[in-house]
Amino acid sequence: MTPVNDLTSLPTAWVEGELASLDEAGLRRIPPLISSSAGPIVEVAGRPCILLGSNNYLNLAGDYRVRQGAAEAARRFGGGAAGSRLVSGTLTIHRELEDRLAALMGTEAAVLFSSGYIANVATIPALVGRGDAIFSDALNHASLIDGCRLSGANVTIYPHADMEALSKALKSSTWRRGLIVSDSVFSMDADSAPLSQLQRQARDHGAMLLVDESHALGVLGPGGGGLAEAMGLSGQIDIVMGTLSKALGSAGGFIAASASVCDFLRHRARGYVFDTAPAPAAVGAAQAAMDVMLAEPWRRAHLREMTQLLRAVLQRGGLPTLPGDAAVVPLVLGEAERCVAVASRCRDQGVIAPAIRPPSVPEGSSRLRLTVSAGFDVSLVNRAAGAILTAEAGTPRG
Ligand SMILES: Cc1ncc(COP(=O)(O)O)c(C=O)c1O
Repeated sequence: MTPVNDLTSLPTAWVEGELASLDEAGLRRIPPLISSSAGPIVEVAGRPCILLGSNNYLNLAGDYRVRQGAAEAARRFGGGAAGSRLVSGTLTIHRELEDRLAALMGTEAAVLFSSGYIANVATIPALVGRGDAIFSDALNHASLIDGCRLSGANVTIYPHADMEALSKALKSSTWRRGLIVSDSVFSMDADSAPLSQLQRQARDHGAMLLVDESHALGVLGPGGGGLAEAMGLSGQIDIVMGTLSKALGSAGGFIAASASVCDFLRHRARGYVFDTAPAPAAVGAAQAAMDVMLAEPWRRAHLREMTQLLRAVLQRGGLPTLPGDAAVVPLVLGEAERCVAVASRCRDQGVIAPAIRPPSVPEGSSRLRLTVSAGFDVSLVNRAAGAILTAEAGTPRG
């Protein structure tokens, strides 16, 4: 029995039990320890490895101009913002970046948060609460789910992208305020939300619409403005969420919306009010990344080509991937243990292909979530895909 006066042993004992269960279920995660900057090839344990799992879609995280942007902002404004936005932490670069993000997304204004996760978790409870209703896609990202839970609103989860089910749910509920919440590109499945239909449903039923563009920003749309821009709906979605941590190679999240919604969030979103403002280096990096993204549209086109090539090579080798227009290539392998075994064989060949397991995806649908970036070329994609095909063929089933 655990001695009652030993303060550390009680949590340690039950936590170790939980970890053992994760081990048994093949769900214990041991991430690769990377000792170089982000890019198609990274160093792990002194060895170069092809990284097929980052969200560095435009290959900007390690770009010299982005590093320079981070360094200059840190030199001028310091290591941290040293205060929350409403008290003493608002720097000129925060406001400049917000204005640029609003212009990119076609909205009146934007509000920065220190991460995309916080943006979602802070915004949803600011918009709806007890007595209100949320309608949330079944495959939404965890940060949206957590925001919904935290809000205290009545949450209806509709089957993935099922507009009939959403319509029924909207018709059969009463609420003070209603909010439809959806990813634009789904991070584990790579498909896109039916955005026009979502917008129509929101309008017809008098509900608000929040769309998370994290995996579409920089990747879709002629200017990199995301799925809404790609579909001609730029500036027409009530509340758009985005992150600086993926295609823009930095850290931070934002909401782009009308000036009054943004102003309201600055007063009511707890993750804005009670959080230290984003670090200058992150803001400087994002600014520089936006410059590069806008000046070098070839990155988006090349990313698309490399993503299609990866899909095609796997398909030719007998491994069909889930379809999608964005930069995520899911290869569903089934049980967690086999998926982990395939990922481990990839790793032996110098390819990091992350195994995504429950609870991130449903039981029995564990998958390699593959991504390339604008930094890949044909031979690198072929090498990586070849390693996956070999690993999969060499891993026994069930
Ligand atoms: C769809 C989606 N929304 C939000 C987030 C959170 O963004 P961040 O990593 O900037 O906190 C992520 C990140 O994984 C995401 O995939």
